[in-house]
Amino acid sequence: MARDVAAARGGGEVLALDGGAPVRTAPFPTWPEWDEGDERALLEVLRSGAWGSHAGGRVREFSERFAAYQDARHGVAVTNGTAALEVALRAAGVQPLDEVIVPPYTFVATATAVLAIGAIPIFCDILPDTYLIDAGDAERRITARTRAIVAVHIGGQPADMDAVLDLAQRHGLRTIEDAAQAHGAAWRGRRAGAIGDAGTFSFQSSKNLNAGEGGILLTNDRALAERAWSLCNVGRVPQGAWYQHEVMGFNLRLTEFQGALLLTQLERLPAQYDVRDRNARWLDRELQGIPGITPQARDERVTGHAHHLYLFRYNRERFGGRDRDWFLRALRAEGIPCSPGYTTPLYRMKAIIDERRKWADLAGAVGRPVALPASPDDEALPVTERACAEEGVWLSQSTLLAGEGDMAQIVQAVAKVQRAAR
Ligand SMILES: Cc1ncc(COP(=O)(O)O)c(C=O)c1O
Repeated sequence: MARDVAAARGGGEVLALDGGAPVRTAPFPTWPEWDEGDERALLEVLRSGAWGSHAGGRVREFSERFAAYQDARHGVAVTNGTAALEVALRAAGVQPLDEVIVPPYTFVATATAVLAIGAIPIFCDILPDTYLIDAGDAERRITARTRAIVAVHIGGQPADMDAVLDLAQRHGLRTIEDAAQAHGAAWRGRRAGAIGDAGTFSFQSSKNLNAGEGGILLTNDRALAERAWSLCNVGRVPQGAWYQHEVMGFNLRLTEFQGALLLTQLERLPAQYDVRDRNARWLDRELQGIPGITPQARDERVTGHAHHLYLFRYNRERFGGRDRDWFLRALRAEGIPCSPGYTTPLYRMKAIIDERRKWADLAGAVGRPVALPASPDDEALPVTERACAEEGVWLSQSTLLAGEGDMAQIVQAVAKVQRAAR
């Protein structure tokens, strides 16, 4: 790629934070993208009067198309990624007071979905170079009550599914992939979502495939898919009557408006995926040359990275001891949108601490004691702590949709901040 990085690396400048000229003032692409095709699709639903998914065919068509896109046999649309996780856990047979292994470097929903069904999340650490689940550490936390493991494909890079599946097989665990950020991602040629027993996706506003809100569960297991369908359709069964409710269920259906938008947005996804991937690979090469910046490592078995986030590690030692907050302020002042990402490990979040304690107390009362650490400090997982407190930096997926010159300005800005910090 012909990008003007050599020029971008010139020196002698004053940081925008200190009153100098910023590297850029132009905005990065906004999200979402849409055109008349999306407008037409939404108007068609409006004018049809068939707004609910039981009346129209768009949600069904999308579910089939998205499942095929991710190499899964079955797709069950769900109101959002949080509910999809809860449905996946229930449909996979996780019971109240079961233990479920979860990494703590993720969105809160990965753990609250476990708690919502009365099960207990047990946290394991992440790998230092990818921030993905550390299967070795997960294995050390397995007990006789462990029923499932949730592998989160953070940022859009699949977790080491060989290690996770091996672990699950040896210990008789169900495997759920939290693929909320991983549309189009693939592990050794198989797309994410149906490599484990089930996988869940989010179509919330920030996601690479967006309908404002929405989600889906994917699986290759027909019986699991039918259980999930029932859970999302107030306990109905696929061939049953309207008022026939065979199991406890919920109304977790999408509307046809969301189905229509997901169909039009899905058409854009492959091209957007390619742009993000090209830009991310280029940033990987360029940023790793800057002292103190380490892009998320890419496992060679990863054959598709969705790049919902562009993730890199910040080392303050190489930035004159200045902390990450300073770096982020300096980079933003140069015109580059960036964030620290998750700053609180899930085991330090009050909602999780309180709810987990509640279920653990109940487990103790019924003679199934759970060994929870006395305090978050006792639980502290070193890689997660570092990622949250000082290392992790995120660029968003929409930033990656910008052009070549824009990527060069990101590198230029990071290099400028690095020189100034030194
Ligand atoms: C890793 C992860 N899991 C689960 C979710 C929950 O998805 P939703 O916001 O659609 O409920 C999200 C989305 O924010 C996420 O990033």
